[in-house]
Amino acid sequence: MEKNLQAIVDHTETILSSISTRPEWEQSKASILGPNGSLTQVAKGIGSLSKEERPVFGQSLNQAKRQIESLFQSTLTKIDQHADLASLGKKFDHTLPASPNHIGGTHPLTNVRRKVVSIFRKIGFTVAEATEVETEWYCFDALNTPQDHPARDAQDTLFFPETSVWSNVSKKSKEKNILRTHTSSVQIRTLLKEPPPLRIIAPGRCFRRDTVDATHSANFHQTEGLYVDKNVNVRDLKGVLDFFLRELFGEKLETRLRPSFFPFTEPSYEVDLKAPNLGKLSDRWIEIMGCGMVDPEVLKLVELCPDKWSGFAFGIGLERISMILHGIDDIRHFYQNDQRFLSQFSNAL
Ligand code: DAH
Repeated sequence: MEKNLQAIVDHTETILSSISTRPEWEQSKASILGPNGSLTQVAKGIGSLSKEERPVFGQSLNQAKRQIESLFQSTLTKIDQHADLASLGKKFDHTLPASPNHIGGTHPLTNVRRKVVSIFRKIGFTVAEATEVETEWYCFDALNTPQDHPARDAQDTLFFPETSVWSNVSKKSKEKNILRTHTSSVQIRTLLKEPPPLRIIAPGRCFRRDTVDATHSANFHQTEGLYVDKNVNVRDLKGVLDFFLRELFGEKLETRLRPSFFPFTEPSYEVDLKAPNLGKLSDRWIEIMGCGMVDPEVLKLVELCPDKWSGFAFGIGLERISMILHGIDDIRHFYQNDQRFLSQFSNAL
């Protein structure tokens, strides 16, 4: 009988070594410890033993039972652990390369704006802002733009319906609301608010009814600049712009003022630049911005006496700066949110 007990323990070890699921485990347990199990059958044989043999056999039986139960228990623990691991999926491979860490960057136009602002800050200019929704008076009339000027045409300017209300955009009288076509309107809002002398730049978004192509966009960004003081002259204008453009494009830059026309400046100029470090555009004269001496008519319209005050103004496209600096050939890239483009230029400059 004792031998039988040992045989059952050995048998238990053998079958437990080959099972891996709970149902198999249940089945094996029933086949040994269940009512018809092999151990139960052997235990029943106790009845045929003598009085003296019974306690000895009883002891061996209990010992074998404990051993078998502990074998079952440890196997069950293993099966459960296995099931847990399996539910976690495939084993993690520590040797795989890490997935790329996408950290957001600033938009290329934000970089240009910040750079422009930081350059002008060095020479005492502060940032002025106004709304993108404007009125005809601030965008055109106060800037000495005649009623029949083509820029005012509905084909160039985006007009709001007469019924639309913009409570944060003050009007001169009953003129129409529009989306500003340039940041020059900020000159007017600032001059009406702050007495000169003043030095401001006004970076911001502008809108025109342009057909979109590689060099035109219905929305784009400019920085306006304005300096009003006593005895301001063209040399001041040229000095400030040369400083600005050299900080931006490098010391080897050449610039020239070419006569032009804007209703709000007299005289007016286009600024051209030539630099050796601009890729395809190197060593060629490129038009970069408009500027001029503030027209006395503009000063009168904001109630400043032109005999006492004078000034210069300029306007430059932020997209244009970025395109020239980085050899970008299509303005639409700036608005398409293509990560391949953005990540190339996000931290450049
Ligand atoms: N407002 C002009 C434009 O949108 C740019 C400009 C030219 C601004 C000359 C000025 C200026 O202040 O003096 O094209």
